[in-house]
Amino acid sequence: MTAQLIDGKAIAASLRQQIAQRVAERRQRGLRAPGLAVILVGNDPASEVYVSHKRKDCEEVGFMSKAYDLPASTSQAELLSLIDNLNDSAEIDGILVQLPLPAHLDASQLLERIRPDKDVDGFHPYNVGRLAQRIPLLRPCTPKGIMTLLESTGADLHGMHAVIVGASNIVGRPMALELLLAGCTVTVTHRFTKDLPGHLASADLVVVAAGKPGLVKGEWIKEGAIVIDVGINRQADGKLIGDVVFDTALPRAGWITPVPGGVGPMTRACLLENTLYAAESLHSQAE
Ligand code: GUN
Repeated sequence: MTAQLIDGKAIAASLRQQIAQRVAERRQRGLRAPGLAVILVGNDPASEVYVSHKRKDCEEVGFMSKAYDLPASTSQAELLSLIDNLNDSAEIDGILVQLPLPAHLDASQLLERIRPDKDVDGFHPYNVGRLAQRIPLLRPCTPKGIMTLLESTGADLHGMHAVIVGASNIVGRPMALELLLAGCTVTVTHRFTKDLPGHLASADLVVVAAGKPGLVKGEWIKEGAIVIDVGINRQADGKLIGDVVFDTALPRAGWITPVPGGVGPMTRACLLENTLYAAESLHSQAE
């Protein structure tokens, strides 16, 4: 058996096209373009690449994007003040602070300062709490994008045993909440988990977001399982690889996401979806 590939790149491109269409319709009705503010502090090379992609996506779908590229020395007070200004701006629907931040900054305090209805990353405790209580509003982008990828397989998730590898605030934890909401029985594994292969042996669905290249061996995957690889790791030769050993997982899995071209493009497309949703449903009185 060989797994079917889940083509995140194509699914994301089609989502972007639908979003561009909805933006064009808004404009025809005389409404403003959705606005996204992207804040980058310092010069982490991976963050610079991610942020440049997000801005390019905004351009493609007709959003207004505002770039704030700030030096690594920017203070907490300066960032809080910038967030306050963006919170009050009538042309901004979404505010994104690219993570990780330089060590002297308190990321939790900054993320909590963003108005929950402009929190298009879905990281504010209010939005995470809404998801935990099964009344989601703005949902974290990577888990939301993965739910769209899972939908594309046509699989019925109810009753599946889902195993998540990694318990981060950005992916693992909100992923667990999404899958619980979708009717899965969810196991979250992390760095202190004792027997990862033992958990994976009964997993119908695996989401790996550990940031460790090749952590999950193909032999650990249950025959026919759906495998979602969130890892993006750059090797010395410049090649990107995931957290799953793709070549040995491919013959065992039922469905699998490639790296690159799987989860990454969907995270970006979901940021656009969230920003459009904020503009259409949360900020319609500001028109
Ligand atoms: N760093 C890695 N992933 C993300 C993300 O989805 N949003 C933000 N803001 N920073 C990130």
